[in-house]
Amino acid sequence: MSETSPSVDMLEPIEDVGGAAQPLLQVTGLTKHFPVRGELFSARKTVRAVDDVSFSVLKGETVGIVGESGCGKSTTARLLMHLMKRDAGDIVYDGLQVGRALSLRELRRAMQMVFQDSYASLNPRLTIEESIAFGPKVHGMADGAARTLARELLGKVGLRPENFANRYPHEISGGQRQRVNIARALALSPRLVILDEAVSALDKSVEAQVLNLLVDLKREFGLTYLFISHDLNVVRYISDRVLVMYLGEVVELGPVDQVWDAPAHPYTRALLAAMPSSDPDHRTETPPISGDPPNPIDPPSGCRFHTRCPFAEPLCANATPKLTALDTMGHEAACYMAIPGSGHSRAPAKETNRERANPA
Ligand SMILES: Nc1ncnc2c1ncn2[C@@H]1O[C@H](COP(=O)(O)OP(=O)(O)OP(=O)(O)O)[C@@H](O)[C@H]1O
Ligand code: SF4
Ligand SMILES: [Mg+2]
Repeated sequence: MSETSPSVDMLEPIEDVGGAAQPLLQVTGLTKHFPVRGELFSARKTVRAVDDVSFSVLKGETVGIVGESGCGKSTTARLLMHLMKRDAGDIVYDGLQVGRALSLRELRRAMQMVFQDSYASLNPRLTIEESIAFGPKVHGMADGAARTLARELLGKVGLRPENFANRYPHEISGGQRQRVNIARALALSPRLVILDEAVSALDKSVEAQVLNLLVDLKREFGLTYLFISHDLNVVRYISDRVLVMYLGEVVELGPVDQVWDAPAHPYTRALLAAMPSSDPDHRTETPPISGDPPNPIDPPSGCRFHTRCPFAEPLCANATPKLTALDTMGHEAACYMAIPGSGHSRAPAKETNRERANPA
């Protein structure tokens, strides 16, 4: 623990085995399909909620996940937490295979999740202090030590323990409950915290306070965040890198400034164009993306965005464009326009070996 962390006993964090250069999380080919009942006598249908998703999260960074409702953000989070079984893919935590070198019990402590619904996450019959102390006790901490830790953490999330420890969830506001949920997550000494729309239900001013709290806690506890949100302004504020998802797939990823300043995928451009300005004097909302709303049941072939994309050409419907590097900074997009020599009329020409060897 860092020198600024609580003076009370905390659970030992799961050890850093790989060092700073090793990603905290490496996700490869993550896939989850839900079978759904079709019409009588019609073929069985499938929701391709998460389809061959790969990304990594470096130690100490905040990775944002954005995309319209139903694009697979929460399913991705639940799969990472092993709250549901995946159909395919690898999840490696700090170089350790979950279920082998790292037990599920250890993983659930190393990775904590905070959800949008602050009330549903708390047991209404437990006081705030009992709720926060519950996890450490399950992991073997004595009752007295766990309660002391709970009070210390209440202070860390900006709630005076003398005022809040003995209250029940229904006696406090949504913003305060979300602070309690954050304290509850921190009580297990996680290294990664997944925040799934964790501030989305809060009023704007409360949201800003909780966001600032998250930034402070990240620094103090040396945390890594996976931050899921509909709100692109919030994602830009808090994230180092961002993943853009569309119908279960990652269509663009990269450092947040690169993605915002030079979005390469038409879907990302449309999302950003439809974004309300954070500046109240310039509150314009461009019409949302045209075309049919996305249906994750049996999504379109090839590039899943081709039914709504103004630049779609016949090749777009044939095969899925692969995520392709746009620079050396980790900015990637899955669009034929970004793939040199793809055959799309707007794609850059393919660089020949000779041009690569003798740049102009
Ligand atoms: N248990 C389930 N059974 C069947 N379909 C599911 C299940 N869970 C999620 N889905 C479907 O998978 C798709 C992805 O859902 P998910 O909740 O991951 O989206 P999301 O990006 O988190 O959306 P939102 O922004 O609304 O929270 C949706 O079409 C959803 O209806
Ligand atoms: S691959 Fe084709 S359809 Fe898909 S985003 Fe690019 S141009 Fe549009
Ligand atoms: Mg969700």
